Amino acid sequence: MVKKKVLILGGDGYLGWPTAMYFSRKGHDVAVVDNFIKRQWEAEVEAEPLIPIPSLQQRIRIWKQATGKKIRMYVGNLAHERFVARIFRDFKPDVIIHYGEQPSAPFSMMGNERTNETQINNVVGTLNVIYSMKRSTPEAHLIKLGTMGEYGTPNIDIEEGWITITHKGRKDRMLFPKKPGSFYHLSKVHDSNNLEFACRVWGLRVTDLNQGVVYGMETEETKLADGLHTSFHYDDIFGTALNRFCVQAVAGVPITPYGKGGQKRGFLNIVDTLRCVELAALHPAKKGEFRVFNQFTEVFSIRELAEKVKSAAADMGIRAKIRHVRNPRTELEQHYYNPVHRALPKLGLKPHLLSDVLVESMLAKIIEHKDLINEEIIMPRVLWVSKTE
Ligand SMILES: NC(=O)c1ccc[n+]([C@@H]2O[C@H](COP(=O)([O-])OP(=O)(O)OC[C@H]3O[C@@H](n4cnc5c(N)ncnc54)[C@H](O)[C@@H]3O)[C@@H](O)[C@H]2O)c1
Repeated sequence: MVKKKVLILGGDGYLGWPTAMYFSRKGHDVAVVDNFIKRQWEAEVEAEPLIPIPSLQQRIRIWKQATGKKIRMYVGNLAHERFVARIFRDFKPDVIIHYGEQPSAPFSMMGNERTNETQINNVVGTLNVIYSMKRSTPEAHLIKLGTMGEYGTPNIDIEEGWITITHKGRKDRMLFPKKPGSFYHLSKVHDSNNLEFACRVWGLRVTDLNQGVVYGMETEETKLADGLHTSFHYDDIFGTALNRFCVQAVAGVPITPYGKGGQKRGFLNIVDTLRCVELAALHPAKKGEFRVFNQFTEVFSIRELAEKVKSAAADMGIRAKIRHVRNPRTELEQHYYNPVHRALPKLGLKPHLLSDVLVESMLAKIIEHKDLINEEIIMPRVLWVSKTE
């Protein structure tokens, strides 16, 4: 790719930091934006990552020492419109990669205050980004991280963002209907609607990446020096089921799928996230186009994930047990699931599979840091419907 100015929103996060290093290593001019709100939320809900993470300033310094490359940093809140406007005027990005949102379904379901915080943070932040693009960089390409959870689990095939509907003899191309499972996922649906509108009315160019659940602790860049690693959450609020299961196996406590475990989801390796974002950047949306890619490589049920972790642990001499627990969420536990995901493979994505990393770069790494595991933060604390309601 010719050298571009790449602005990464949420650059201190699990995906944002590895993305910043990835684009910087390829020779692009990279700037990151973050207000460290995730670190504050982690402290508030007792959900710190397994391996402590240096500050963003320190990571940028380590990166410069390791590679000679500079990453610029803007500290501030995306929900503050003047702050966002200033960054766009100052940096004038060609590509914006937007990860800067509250990313947890359980966090968004903790009560009225956390729901508001999630939706205001996410929806207002994205509105500020599109207004700033319109004013300062109308030709830039926004790559926005959405989620496969926007669709929910409908009893029909899930298309890539759009569907052609024939109704009473007339036909139109509409956004695919959404049936999300939390106020967090709803914030992403609201973002998608706002983005489609901005493309249609203002002529912006946007790629909405409806991403599956990401796993993996390492990328080529995180391995370049100590301190460049990214966050690994295994708690009930910010951790994913796979991460929790891996940590449970290592800690010698039962692996606990929620409910029957027949819930199916799309998954992808963190190195594929980086490649997908790069492919989107290499092949930008056209002016006025709101393009949606379903971004995952494999589908597993939660029960299958538990079995995979159990058998990978057995290969390492660990005898893990599986114990199904009451599902704190309101969701279908047995359902049809057939999402289309053709666009990214067509652009050149070659998937890395879960089976390639589960033992060596997940379980082995967790074993190295076994002493840091806090077993108290794994079991679910947030119910979708509380007993008193
Ligand atoms: N990790 C996954 O499995 C996954 C799956 C699907 C979609 N996504 C989406 O991808 C994006 C990145 O996910 P992640 O796992 O890296 O999350 P993360 O929480 O690790 O990173 C998000 C970063 O954005 C920052 N941020 C949030 N609100 C901000 C604001 N108002 N101003 C400035 N900075 C702000 C946070 O401080 C954090 O550093 C999120 O939008 C998430 O919803 C993630």
